[in-house]
Amino acid sequence: MRSYFISMASIFVAAVSLLTCQSNTASRDAIDQRVDELLAKMTLEEKIGQMNQYNGFWDVTGPAPNEEQARKKYDHFKQGLVGSVLNVRGTAQVRKLQELVVKESRLGIPLIFGQDVIHGQETITPIPLAEAASWDLAAIEKSAQVAAAEAAAIGLNWTFAPMIDISRDPRWGRVMEGAGEDPYLGAKVAVARVKGFQGNDLSAPNTIAACAKHFAGYGFSEAGRDYNAVDIGTYTLHNVVLPPFKAAVDADVKTVMNSFNVLNGVPATGNKYLQRDILKGRWKFNGLIVSDWASIFEMIPHGHARDLKQAAELAIHAGNDMDMESYAYVQHLKSLVEEGKVSEEQVNDAVRRILRLKFELGLFDDPYRYCDSVREKSVLMQPDHLTAALDVARKSIVLLKNDRGFLPLNKAQKNIAVIGALAADKNSPLGNWRAGADENSAVSVLEGLQKYTLAIRYAKGADVVVGKPEFIRETAVNETDSSGFREAVALARQSDVVIMVLGEDGFLSGEGRSRTNLNLPGVQERLLKAVHRVNKNIILVLMNGRPLTINWANANIPAIVEAWQLGTRSGDAIAQVLFGDYNPSGKLPMTFPKSVGQIPLYYNHFNTGRPDPTGLVFWSHYIDETNEPLYPFGYGLSYSEFTYSDLKIDTTDRQAINVSCTVTNTGRVAGEEVAQLYIRDRVSSLVRPVKELKGFQKFTLEPGASQNVQFVLTDAELGFYDADGQWLVEPGEFDVMIGTSSVKGLVGRFSR
Ligand code: BGC
Repeated sequence: MRSYFISMASIFVAAVSLLTCQSNTASRDAIDQRVDELLAKMTLEEKIGQMNQYNGFWDVTGPAPNEEQARKKYDHFKQGLVGSVLNVRGTAQVRKLQELVVKESRLGIPLIFGQDVIHGQETITPIPLAEAASWDLAAIEKSAQVAAAEAAAIGLNWTFAPMIDISRDPRWGRVMEGAGEDPYLGAKVAVARVKGFQGNDLSAPNTIAACAKHFAGYGFSEAGRDYNAVDIGTYTLHNVVLPPFKAAVDADVKTVMNSFNVLNGVPATGNKYLQRDILKGRWKFNGLIVSDWASIFEMIPHGHARDLKQAAELAIHAGNDMDMESYAYVQHLKSLVEEGKVSEEQVNDAVRRILRLKFELGLFDDPYRYCDSVREKSVLMQPDHLTAALDVARKSIVLLKNDRGFLPLNKAQKNIAVIGALAADKNSPLGNWRAGADENSAVSVLEGLQKYTLAIRYAKGADVVVGKPEFIRETAVNETDSSGFREAVALARQSDVVIMVLGEDGFLSGEGRSRTNLNLPGVQERLLKAVHRVNKNIILVLMNGRPLTINWANANIPAIVEAWQLGTRSGDAIAQVLFGDYNPSGKLPMTFPKSVGQIPLYYNHFNTGRPDPTGLVFWSHYIDETNEPLYPFGYGLSYSEFTYSDLKIDTTDRQAINVSCTVTNTGRVAGEEVAQLYIRDRVSSLVRPVKELKGFQKFTLEPGASQNVQFVLTDAELGFYDADGQWLVEPGEFDVMIGTSSVKGLVGRFSR
């Protein structure tokens, strides 16, 4: 009977998916037909106009246009010479501009409105690096869903997210925007975010088009300096950089943004290999590629194009469909076509991609569908958005150290000192790329703690950052002022427990915010030491947008909590963790180095020919630091203890190797664990990393409870790309590990 129901159910599911698939294809065909009909009516100029994207007239996220350019831009909207606009938001503003174009231009083709909705629109969720630390794909997807709903409610239909650049360099400020150093985790997170933004129906009022960026290699900017050259081999490109993009394309991401960097001598924006050959060729991506801000123009200073006209020519040949703020296509494409340097078919192909998206978004059915001012008010900061923001914020926190169960704090704890400017800061927890969030709209740590107890006294101790973000280089960091130390130390002396909230200002990471030091900025470490001299019972709460080198703190402070920049509900999430109402479950998505000199430091490195200490000097190491990180990838503690046992490897089916073990909560409280599976291909035609994440599962266990964790390894996990991007699967021996981090687990070996 049961099997009858199962088979009926599966027939039903199959029938539904067949029907969905057929109707998807039908609607795709219908859209393609409408696109072609419209295209046939368009002049060459109008087509080129669709490929032109302008910034609005206020928020500027790149070099600003001059006055004359701004005037010209306005006319271009009326002439139908703009296809999309960024940084115009709010139903009233969007409607105004949409009306201008729809009513005044000849064909009235609606604009797409884009913006960097990176981790929330008004309700801000954790910075993406933090969210990746949750390893909770459902929570990450939900967070993107919230962002999409709010963005759509204020008139937007396109976010320039997710950023899925893998990076091994925490000096690079943009690591805060990505999912860290690992391509496997990066790919899973990329898919979750794309699904969250786009949902199942792009024309729904609460979904928007996503944009996988930056294609490609941007996370490998030399020395972590933003916009710097990238020089990685194609072996690394295919195995490390591209997998999250491939996953996003397979998940039907609608758009891709190229990048500022040079890759092997060719700027990504003019890089045919990346865009035409791989993305649109091998991967059959049929969405649109947008340039990064003025990145077509930037091929001139790169030394790749002699002038803007040649830059436009190189960009379109390479596959770049839309020009963000370079004015290159709108000024030069027409003459390039007339001169026969660019074919009209190339233009048509780009325009088809752009129009298709507009149809999918439902903009032709109703250009104002995202401009409902009543909806706008009701959707922003809805209670369930705030709940989702709290949920993912708690899950993003990583417990780095907890000597002798120092944490959680007893709720009856009296006499708590809270020290550090970031503890009272309602702005920094919003992080960089905070879209439409109101200034100072986050719950501060202090406010979060005060909901638990009023037995708290606060002293700032020292400023973290003075001045506005735009002056960050000149005046940002308080390097010297220790005038607040005395008060903080006096308070610590009288207190039983000290919570110190230290780290980076919210604008110290993000675009253009590269650092050469990864210490606690300014005088904060001195403050920490001064407090420590009078009171050792310190809980250090870190608030930061990237891994930091906190060796002294790690050696001396009993409890350390990595709280990143957690968004609107930051202080609530942190307080719940500190008081044990939420048991921390995050795991680092990026290695924390001991020193900047170790960078790039990442867990999935090659072994080298001299990996082991020989007693002599001639092995791969430093003479002034170990090779080990401060905290490895995948690391994170819990208030519970998880014990791994009983590793089993079943190779009966060589195409689906089964690896399993038992995880038991041997602690005293319930908790969530992320069981991680790593492999090592011991010998192969191209050397493989010492460890590669190939699976993970997050689950909750009550005290004393066990869970059987199973992973299946197929060709998809055991193969790799060669330097030309061809997929290889080789027989041989593999090490396998299942554990609680990239350095601790049960190990086994199998051949196949
Ligand atoms: C960034 C992109 C962003 C664009 C638009 C650029 O400077 O690199 O990630 O989407 O600006 O704001």
